[in-house]
Amino acid sequence: MLSPTKEPLKGSIKIPGDKSISHRSIILASLAKGTTKISNFLNGEDCLRTIEAFREMGVTIDIDQQEVEVQSLGVNELKEPLVPLNFGNSGTTARLMLGLLAGLPFFTTVYGDQYLSKRPMSRVVDPVQQMNGQFYGRQQNNLFPMGIVGSKLTGIHYELPVKSAQVKSAILLAGLLAEGKTTVVESTQTRNHTENMLRAFGADIQIHQNEITITNRKPLTAQQIIVPGDISSAAFFIVAGLIVPGSSITLEKVGLNETRTGLLDVIDQMGATYSINHIHTVAGEKYGDITVEYSQLHGIEIKGDMIPRLIDEIPIIALLATQAKGETVISDAGELRVKETDRIAAVEDVLTSLGATLQTFDDGMVIKGEQDLVGGSIKSYHDHRIAMMGSIASLITKNGVEIDSTDSIQISYPNFFEHLNQVKGEESTES
Ligand code: S3P
Repeated sequence: MLSPTKEPLKGSIKIPGDKSISHRSIILASLAKGTTKISNFLNGEDCLRTIEAFREMGVTIDIDQQEVEVQSLGVNELKEPLVPLNFGNSGTTARLMLGLLAGLPFFTTVYGDQYLSKRPMSRVVDPVQQMNGQFYGRQQNNLFPMGIVGSKLTGIHYELPVKSAQVKSAILLAGLLAEGKTTVVESTQTRNHTENMLRAFGADIQIHQNEITITNRKPLTAQQIIVPGDISSAAFFIVAGLIVPGSSITLEKVGLNETRTGLLDVIDQMGATYSINHIHTVAGEKYGDITVEYSQLHGIEIKGDMIPRLIDEIPIIALLATQAKGETVISDAGELRVKETDRIAAVEDVLTSLGATLQTFDDGMVIKGEQDLVGGSIKSYHDHRIAMMGSIASLITKNGVEIDSTDSIQISYPNFFEHLNQVKGEESTES
């Protein structure tokens, strides 16, 4: 049982490394000849799946807490894995690796857990098939498990029909192995970590407005990488600080890439008191310390181009909205239905179980403000962001929150409860 807090939240937290950037650092380091050193790597379950996949392809990867060293002979020396690759719960591993494996000269089989096995892969399979990729999966090559017969790919000009950085990245990685030029056009900008990192590793990549073009002309060279803190993880403590009266918390070295900071724009519009200090940029990625204070907020509308900039934060924004004055309306967020779980349904179930009222619709929800949360038992749907949202909600409930399982939190924030107890001023006792 997670109990409500009696005290304001105080202190400073070192947010773990960004999940998206950690995945990409392993992928590009494995394709580059030489030794890449990665600091502040997210040592969580999803990123470890990406590491395992490359180890099976012959790359030497050593991990010591958050420090990783990748020694690779380069993309041309990757070996055919002898065993099926297990991507666990990781959608990012799955989508990005499909693009890459399609262009490597060997046969691979891939699978995931029961949740990943329900998530659509045709969004990557379709465009990469147009590049000559060969996939064999359940439901007309849409679902895992899947076999991939590596082949010679050819470049493509592709307008993204879904606002997805995973799809964009998969095509760019396929493009890195393909003959000729590959151009991806996006109508709304999604997170651009793949582009930033490809450039840092020396790839032939050009970006003109919303068009990204890549070729196979330049080999990647090994780099030193510092992974900023994950704003999607910081989000839970940003909201905690805003909703617990009297709180003031600082989240250190959080990634501030503008394709990811929709949450900061949202809290700004809602009237939050916060500041950002010690801003630095490394390899095209900005980061800094965020301090939030408890604030009286008001509801707003969140939609359109803003959505990809905060897609993973919507569950915790929904909790925030229950405490603001007036209604918050979230729309254009249908992608939430195909995340680790259907996050629109999960948010509705969790907040309702805790005593709140909200309406959901196909691509969003309307959340009433100034609601008292009673607390109670909730299901996490084995979704890390739902489990963390429920845990943060416990702070402001009358009776506390019982979660069926919090194991999924290992996916993106292994020391979440340590940090939660730290800001509560309690001894660390793992929930
Ligand atoms: C991610 C992109 C987003 C996000 C996911 C990580 C990435 O997914 O929700 O958690 O690292 O590229 P989509 O590309 O499906 O929107």
